[in-house]
Amino acid sequence: MQELFDALKRAAPHESTVLITGESGTGKELIARALHALGSRASGPFVAINCATLSDQLLESELFGHERGAFTSADRPKPGVMESADGGTLLLDEVNEMGLGCQAKLLRAIERREFRRVGGTRKIKVNLRVIAACNVNLEDAVAAHRFRPDLYYRLKVLSLEVPPLRSRKEAIPVLAQRFLDEVTATAHLPARRLTPEALAQLVRYEWPGNVRELRNAMESVALMTARTLIDVEDLPPNVRKVAEGAVQVPVGTRLDTAEREIIKRTLETYPSVKESARVLGIGLRTLHTKIRAYGLRDRRS
Ligand SMILES: Nc1ncnc2c1ncn2[C@@H]1O[C@H](COP(=O)(O)OP(=O)(O)OP(=O)(O)O)[C@@H](O)[C@H]1O
Ligand SMILES: [Mg+2]
Repeated sequence: MQELFDALKRAAPHESTVLITGESGTGKELIARALHALGSRASGPFVAINCATLSDQLLESELFGHERGAFTSADRPKPGVMESADGGTLLLDEVNEMGLGCQAKLLRAIERREFRRVGGTRKIKVNLRVIAACNVNLEDAVAAHRFRPDLYYRLKVLSLEVPPLRSRKEAIPVLAQRFLDEVTATAHLPARRLTPEALAQLVRYEWPGNVRELRNAMESVALMTARTLIDVEDLPPNVRKVAEGAVQVPVGTRLDTAEREIIKRTLETYPSVKESARVLGIGLRTLHTKIRAYGLRDRRS
């Protein structure tokens, strides 16, 4: 984490594009905002756009804006985020989801610092810093021909890796207490403390949803528990369960037997098959196939 902060401070004052990579909920947007706040464009706007929620056509018009009549629903001209972020910072979130057509236009816009609105002829010049974030390895998307290599190299001139929460467990107690304090202050509730056992349990848990999951867990604890001293049994069920959650696999175990046990215990620990698939790092369909093959049943079905 210290490495990340150092890199952040080094990267902030420059113009170059930054690529922020990290699992979901690790704080990529927070890092992007910090880069903006510490940079020379701090007084300018910070604009974020999520590339995953829009079709390529819509994304293009959100990015570059459009002129009247550019497409059927374009009844008036509209500036895009490239224009509204002028003088500031533009965050392209989940950039890996951007379609290839849009990628080509984005690359050109970044390199020339100018572009045209959709359906427009006028060249618009902008001065902004582009930050891209993604929660997958962008190199894989390049290898799969879903992401342009030239854009990839353009984006990752500077790159920051945000570590998952499970690899910086020392941060968990401080963050947990901070989130409890924030929630209780906002909700005008008495302050909460965690017992050493509850703290140890939070540290032991793997936090697949990272800081966001920790924050949500502390919010739920603060609001659902009347006690001011939070113990293990007050923690959300999936967080609490991990104590008994270790899987014992003696040397000499068949691989399929071990796999069956790991899947069984994961299904018992996590609230849904979907969540279990994510934790196991396999697709939902694959998990369903394995559940059938191993004769396991999701206890909720
Ligand atoms: N170090 C931190 N201190 C305090 N809060 C944090 C920290 N890191 C993340 N958070 C909080 O966790 C939540 C998730 O952070 P953020 O939205 O930046 O994650 P993300 O990496 O962009 O996730 P996603 O890939 O799902 O978009 C936010 O509520 C954010 O405020
Ligand atoms: Mg985000």
